Amino acid sequence: MRMTIIQRGASPLYVCNCNGIREREVRAAIDAGATRPADVFRHKGCQAQCAKCVCEMRQMIQDNREALAFAAE
Ligand code: FES
Repeated sequence: MRMTIIQRGASPLYVCNCNGIREREVRAAIDAGATRPADVFRHKGCQAQCAKCVCEMRQMIQDNREALAFAAE
């Protein structure tokens, strides 16, 4: 069966397939103060399973840090 994803505003992309955590949910966790992937999992009330998503979460956290530092200049 073929599925079609309809995108309405927010990104439907999943960062963590094991826990079903979407990109926008990772961003929300970062906005709420997450500074490492463990904080993102805690924010969502789950734990890392395979940990394949940890690198992408770290990159999103780092990108956010750099954007804030750039905005503060
Ligand atoms: S993809 Fe996130 S724990 Fe497996």
